[in-house]
Amino acid sequence: MNIIDGKAVSAAVRSRIANETAKLKNMGVTPGLAVIIVGNDSASQVYVRNKEKACADVGFYSEKFALPENTTQAQLNALVESLNERKDINGILCQLPLPPHLDDKAVINLIRPDKDVDCFHPVNVGAVMIGDYNYLPCTPAGVMELIHSTGVSVESKKAVVIGRSNIVGKPMAMLLLHENATVEIAHSKTKNLAEITKTADIIVAAVGRAKFLKADMVKDGAVVIDVGMNRDENGKLCGDIDFSGVAPKCSYITPVPGGVGPMTIAMLMQNTLSAAKVQNNLTK
Ligand code: GUN
Repeated sequence: MNIIDGKAVSAAVRSRIANETAKLKNMGVTPGLAVIIVGNDSASQVYVRNKEKACADVGFYSEKFALPENTTQAQLNALVESLNERKDINGILCQLPLPPHLDDKAVINLIRPDKDVDCFHPVNVGAVMIGDYNYLPCTPAGVMELIHSTGVSVESKKAVVIGRSNIVGKPMAMLLLHENATVEIAHSKTKNLAEITKTADIIVAAVGRAKFLKADMVKDGAVVIDVGMNRDENGKLCGDIDFSGVAPKCSYITPVPGGVGPMTIAMLMQNTLSAAKVQNNLTK
């Protein structure tokens, strides 16, 4: 059994991005990311701080827009529209969730698709679906990097994705399909889940339930990727996989923390770099 080191893979990706950024800067282009956060959600504040730090580390310009909880939709829309027009801002990210009185879909639809570094805009989601894209959704793209780091080929393998969210499950299945896996998507209404997961060579768990995937649901030698971020009964951070039970059966497994989490930000940096190139007519 091998534990995939997400921190190391993320550091390698960010190091490559820093090198490319240095070259871009020599050509007079500095990738710029705008991060919008509305309200006082403490988890979101940590995520946004990490994104700003990652930008500084690779040499990007970043600007944070911290708006008060009582921001109106019109004010938020006006900010996005102004950022859409700015030449020094290549990527726009609006941290979710938004306070309940605001419409996240409206904001996502307003971000110019070539600045949508989350890859949430329907135009970019569709581009991923047909395999003709500039940006990949950050978490699924990070999972693919982790799988690639094992050297295990996805081609012709049976992959099971547990979870069907627009941000993770659905695009995850698509990226595995692009690499010629045979993909099954399981979800809360799936019957006999263990029968399905037990046949999988690759399992990606994105259910949001602590230690949901148990050892008797996993085939010997499987590659198991944990997208979950939960708290266990003692308040400790844990994934969707019962790590201590499942790990001994796997060929490769990701830990939580230190697996998928660090990859998501690395792929956000990748999308921001791609955005700077696309907007300056440089080859991606
Ligand atoms: N909130 C939790 N994850 C994400 C993400 O990947 N992007 C944005 N914009 N908000 C999030």
